[in-house]
Amino acid sequence: MLLTEIDHVAIAVRDLEAAVDYHRRAFGASVAYRETVERDGVEEALLAVADSYIQLISPTTPDSPVARFLERRGEGLHHVGYRVADCAAALAALVAAGATPLDSEPRPGSRGTTIAFVHPKGSFGTLIELVQE
Ligand code: CO
Repeated sequence: MLLTEIDHVAIAVRDLEAAVDYHRRAFGASVAYRETVERDGVEEALLAVADSYIQLISPTTPDSPVARFLERRGEGLHHVGYRVADCAAALAALVAAGATPLDSEPRPGSRGTTIAFVHPKGSFGTLIELVQE
């Protein structure tokens, strides 16, 4: 079994402050990490849930992938992050199983992780992110 944990569930939102406030009021959740990933055009807030996270993401530019997602689909579930011990090995295993990689090789993610995305097509309609801590 290559997966060690559900690392995070990512929800695309238009107003990050409003979403953080909602999760604070609804669940008593607080922000564990906050980061802007310029490369992906994303601002994110990670809310800790045991050893996993809810990842709230909003676009930093109008033409970023998350901005286009919000335009097409509206707010909602964007991707699931699966935690793995070895991102490169997990990516190779996924590709061997028929998945279509969006990243040809692992790259830096937020909070010092190493990540790779796999296209929803070939993964039963869900955008998957492999996360190595
Ligand atoms: Co993510």
